[in-house]
Amino acid sequence: MLNREDFEILNDGLIYFDNAATTMKPRCVVDSIVEYYTKYTANAHRGDYDNSLRVDKKYEGVREKVKNFINADSVKEIIFTKGSTESFNMIIFGFMSVYLKKGDEVLLTKGEHASNVLPWLNLSKKIGFNIKYIELDENYRVTLDAVKKNISDKTKVISLAHITNAIGDVRPIEEIGKLCLENDILFVLDATQSIGHLKIDVKKYNISFMGFSAHKMLGPTGVGVLYGKEEILENLVPIEYGGGMNTAFSSDGYYEIKSLPARLEAGTRNIAGVIGMGSAIDYLTSVGMDKIHNYEMELKKYLINRMKSIPNIKLYNEDNDSGVLLFNVGNYFSQDVAIYLNQFKICIRAGNHCAKMLHEVICSSNTCRVSLYLYNNKEEIDKLVDALMNQDKILDTLV
Ligand SMILES: Cc1ncc(COP(=O)(O)O)c(C=O)c1O
Repeated sequence: MLNREDFEILNDGLIYFDNAATTMKPRCVVDSIVEYYTKYTANAHRGDYDNSLRVDKKYEGVREKVKNFINADSVKEIIFTKGSTESFNMIIFGFMSVYLKKGDEVLLTKGEHASNVLPWLNLSKKIGFNIKYIELDENYRVTLDAVKKNISDKTKVISLAHITNAIGDVRPIEEIGKLCLENDILFVLDATQSIGHLKIDVKKYNISFMGFSAHKMLGPTGVGVLYGKEEILENLVPIEYGGGMNTAFSSDGYYEIKSLPARLEAGTRNIAGVIGMGSAIDYLTSVGMDKIHNYEMELKKYLINRMKSIPNIKLYNEDNDSGVLLFNVGNYFSQDVAIYLNQFKICIRAGNHCAKMLHEVICSSNTCRVSLYLYNNKEEIDKLVDALMNQDKILDTLV
C-alpha cells in the first residue's frame, strides 16, 4: 500500500473499494481546506486586503498546478468548474451548440458515463446532428479499427472516456488523438476516471477539450476542471453570466465580458475546493503517477488471482489496465452482494454504474464493481475473498 497512514478514515477497518465513485482524502487535502476557512477566508479577485490577495495567489497558483499536471500550454486553458458533469455541459451547450450543424456526426460508445451522453442526446434533438456509437470488441474495448471504421467526412467530434467507470478499459487515446488530428475532428476526453491514476498529457494526445472532477483524485467534492485548447476555448460561449466575468455593463444593454479564464467563471467559485484540489495534485505528484499505476496493477493481479478461487464467480473485465474489476457471484443480485459485504465494512459498488447503455453490450445490467486505489492492500482483498467464499450467507443479511 502507498501512504495509507495519510488516510485517517481507513484507521477503523473500513475497506473501501469504491474508488471509481469517489476517493478518500489525505490529511493534507483536508488541512488545506481547514486552513483556508480558519486562517484566511476571503473571496477571490475582489479584495485589496491581505487575506484576499493571499486567496488570489492560492487560487491562481492551483490553475498553474493543473496546467503543469496535464501539460497544457497556458493557464488560460484551465477553467474551474463544479466537476466533470458541469465541464461536459459547458463544452456541449457552450461550444458544440454553435459548432455542430444538422447532419454532422459525433462518435461516442455505449460505455460512456451519463454526463458524456445525456448532454449530447439533448443537443442532438435540438440541432439534428447524428450520434454514432463506436462498437466495442468482445472484451468491451475500443479498438483503433473500430474508431476508423466509424469516421466519415461528416464526423466532427469524438467524445470518449479515457478509462470507463464500468468496464475500466483504458482507451488508446494517443492513437485516437492522432486520427482526430489527421481527420480534422475535435477530440473530447472524459478524464474523470483516469486523472488520479494515469499521467495525462493534453498536447501529446491532441485533446481539444477535457473534463475531470477533483473528488476522484483525492480532492474535495464540488470542484473540477474544464480544459480547452486556447483557440477553441475562445469560442466557448459562457452558459453562466454574473460577477467576476464582466468588465462593464450599463442600462442601455451594453456589457463586456473578460477574457479567458475569468470569462467562464461567473460568480463566487468553490475557492476552498480549488485549494483542496491543488493540495491533491501536490500529493499525487509527490507519490508519482507511474508508481500509483504500477501499484494498482500489482494489486489488480492479486485481486483477479484470488477472486478466481471463489466458486460461481463471473469476472467480466480481467483484461484491462486499470484497477476496476466487474463481477457477479452466481445468480445473486449485485445489490444483495453489496449489502452482504457492508457488514464486513467492505464498500463496493453494485448496479449499472451510470453507464446505462452498457447492458446492450454486456448482457448484464447489474454487476458488482471493485475499484482500487493507492491506499488499498492485499489484506483487504483477502477479506473480500473470504467473505465471498461464504456466499450461502449472502441472503441472510437481507432478512
Ligand atoms: C467516466 C465518468 N465521467 C463522468 C463522471 C461524472 O463525474 P461527476 O459526478 O464528478 O461530475 C463520472 C462519475 O462517476 C465518471 O465515472
